[in-house]
Amino acid sequence: MTTSGDSDTPAPTTSVSRRGLLAAGGAVAATSVGVAAGYALAGQPTEPAAAPEADDSLVPFHGPHQAGIATQPQTHAAFLAFDLRGATDRAAAVRLMKLLTDDARRLTAATPVLGDQEPELARTPARLTFTFGFGPRFFTQLGLMQRQPSGLTELPAFGIDQLKPQFCDGDLLVQVCADDPLVLAHAVRQVTKTTRSFAKPRWVQRGFTQPRVALHGAEVSRNLMGQLDGTVNPVPATPDFDAVVWAGPQTGWFAGGTTLVLRRITMQLDTWDELDTPDKELTIGRRLASGAPLTGTAATDQADFAAVDANGLPVIPPFSHMARARPHQQNDRFLRRPYNYDDSNVESGADAGLLFVTYQADIAAQYLPVQQRLAEQDLLNAWTVPIGSAVFALPPGCDENGYIGEGLLA
Ligand code: HEM
Repeated sequence: MTTSGDSDTPAPTTSVSRRGLLAAGGAVAATSVGVAAGYALAGQPTEPAAAPEADDSLVPFHGPHQAGIATQPQTHAAFLAFDLRGATDRAAAVRLMKLLTDDARRLTAATPVLGDQEPELARTPARLTFTFGFGPRFFTQLGLMQRQPSGLTELPAFGIDQLKPQFCDGDLLVQVCADDPLVLAHAVRQVTKTTRSFAKPRWVQRGFTQPRVALHGAEVSRNLMGQLDGTVNPVPATPDFDAVVWAGPQTGWFAGGTTLVLRRITMQLDTWDELDTPDKELTIGRRLASGAPLTGTAATDQADFAAVDANGLPVIPPFSHMARARPHQQNDRFLRRPYNYDDSNVESGADAGLLFVTYQADIAAQYLPVQQRLAEQDLLNAWTVPIGSAVFALPPGCDENGYIGEGLLA
């Protein structure tokens, strides 16, 4: 977790910052948003100095949707939240989003940003993605309340919550994911520099999943409780995924966007480990080793919630996490893209759990009913406590000539 100073005063910029270059002339500013690999300002290379190692580790930045959502989860993630400075108005927000888009466009093409002090760190693609989001206060501060997507709803307080302000809310989200932690750290540093004079850091949350090589054939990573996590999920590039995740054409500028809910959920692993394996499995409704539902043998088997054992008791307990979380009505589904975190240290002790991250077209219609159900009753609640919560609207993607958020801000 990192926080900034309290000052609302823009931090000093370096003498030859990219921002300075952009401020210097409209022509430069205008071309800067058309940057793709190969674009040049005077004195800048026209091509990436080194070709990416392997093309399949580049995730395209441009498209109808932002990357980092339907993307197979990378091994490392950083979620950065910023608060807009008082002086950041709509025109400044346009400049900020053009600059951030420029950074993302270059870095995801394995090309250093302008003025990059460690360009070598930019030249490994590592499936790097950037995903940008706007919190509710972004719309208020910029006078854009009328254009806030109806799918972006703040969550009410839940009885299970013990929220800490340092993990909550935020005006601007930058989600950065990569398979290489060094590439990720470098990318985070670049966007943090770019954002500095427009917004101050509010929180940073870092997470990890298992690398492919450690999955032993499983489709999804394990979490710190040892469970395969993310099995039942909409499948990217299907009509079902599109309907669940992407905002539809009726949402105007937001069409092709989505919303993100991030819940930081701490796990009480010491008491969890007092359970034996069968009790751990009953808590979720799935087997630890295979991830199969208690009524099946493979992770992908359909769960049978009506099945009873020899004593007439349900095989999958009705208050198990899975039984409570599964859809109970037509729309209460979303994409889960969770990351593990472990910020335990000697001074403050254990601090490990899950960055539970979901994407859905509409928070109130899709996320909220599930969260309410789980807050009311879920066996897993005895070992998990939500300590952070934030929601953001993630605009649609952009093409080579655009920038993220243009439909809202232009
Ligand atoms: C630390 C907290 C959590 C842990 C460790 C956890 C773990 C799991 C596990 C192991 C599964 C079964 C495998 C799978 O389908 O991925 C699962 C399923 C699921 N979880 Fe969680 N979960 C947590 C929090 C949440 C929260 C907060 C929500 C929603 C607000 C949620 C929603 C779901 C859903 C929708 C499913 C799929 C249910 C189905 O249709 O079978 N989970 N979770």
